Amino acid sequence: MICSRAFFSSSIQESTQATLAQEVKIMGDPARPETMRAVQYSGYGGGAAALKYVEIPVPSLKKDEVLIKVEAASINPADCNIQKGLLRPFVPRFPFIPVSDVAGEIVEVGAAVSEFKVGDRVVSKLIFWKAGGLAEYVAASESVTVALPAGVSTVDAAGLPVAGLTALQAVRAIGTKFDGTGSGSNILITAGSGGIGTYAVQLAKLGNHNVTATCGARNLELVADMGADEVLDYKTPEGAALKNNSGKKYDYIVNTTNAGKWSAFKPALSSHGRVVDLAPNLANFVASMLTLFSKKKKLSTVLLSLGMEDLRFLLELVKEGKLKTVVDSRHPFDKAADAWEKSMSGHATGKVIVEM
Ligand SMILES: NC(=O)c1ccc[n+]([C@@H]2O[C@H](COP(=O)([O-])OP(=O)(O)OC[C@H]3O[C@@H](n4cnc5c(N)ncnc54)[C@H](OP(=O)(O)O)[C@@H]3O)[C@@H](O)[C@H]2O)c1
Repeated sequence: MICSRAFFSSSIQESTQATLAQEVKIMGDPARPETMRAVQYSGYGGGAAALKYVEIPVPSLKKDEVLIKVEAASINPADCNIQKGLLRPFVPRFPFIPVSDVAGEIVEVGAAVSEFKVGDRVVSKLIFWKAGGLAEYVAASESVTVALPAGVSTVDAAGLPVAGLTALQAVRAIGTKFDGTGSGSNILITAGSGGIGTYAVQLAKLGNHNVTATCGARNLELVADMGADEVLDYKTPEGAALKNNSGKKYDYIVNTTNAGKWSAFKPALSSHGRVVDLAPNLANFVASMLTLFSKKKKLSTVLLSLGMEDLRFLLELVKEGKLKTVVDSRHPFDKAADAWEKSMSGHATGKVIVEM
């Protein structure tokens, strides 16, 4: 883990317990308490102040789920955007326990679970509209859960699901190979200091690209240390113009900031250059429509798709020391609201982690 600074009532019904006992194979010492602490909000908006600590029953498991004692959870901008009402009126159902990226230890397994056992250390990408990660325990489907390789911490793993998978899928979208066969392109990654950007810079370098990245002045050194060949302060005129020292245009731009505009990207692209946009705004959405069939400069949006093989791949890279989770800050569960505020600020350097 690289530290960027120099790197959260009711009773359980007896019938529920009986059903639970039938559905769940409790292997080893029963580690399930009746209730747990969780953080919930009960309506749209309100930011960190709307987060409330509650004591609720530990979730019961479906046949294909595991019960994870959460050790670390990472907050993503999407978590905050859901609270803001991004997916209203359909998502979420209130009260809602936010956060989808969790890592910890399995304490129970459902009857149909075949891959995991009690005691396994795992990371899960919870279903975002069900979430549940900001709690002491969470029920996760076996299908969204991956075992941690030995030596990979739960903090490092918790950073990976949303940000790491999005970064990996973006660099794959520009043809990146990780087996040493890729020739490499001249690429730009915006917000190389963010949750996605920190993973994207490292992955792009593993794919032999020549990488220019943008970030704020305070993170120039950090992003260079992650391997970027050139780093531009986005608040300078050169940085805003996305100009690298060589004057060479970019074959690809991976955009990870809502502030990134097609009007700035277009002149910086080579004649057949392409923008892979992870944080589309209205103007870029229009650009993606207008350039849909373009054989020259083009902007395409890439959306995260669940991929447990991809998550295993990232975990192996972390295990091998080839990929690091940049940690902005670690917050105790009692201070989950601080973590929420930090993520909402849009000024995190890497991942914001809550530890249970
Ligand atoms: N497409 C998908 O499927 C997908 C999946 C996940 C997330 N996303 C979206 O991707 C975006 C990035 O997510 P994230 O987790 O990486 O965000 P993040 O961690 O909150 O990003 C924060 C970082 O961005 C930097 N930054 C802000 N404005 C910048 C600018 N104009 N130029 C360069 N750097 C800038 C900040 O630097 P300073 O503090 O120095 O300003 C900070 O280090 C979000 O909009 C998120 O919703 C999309």
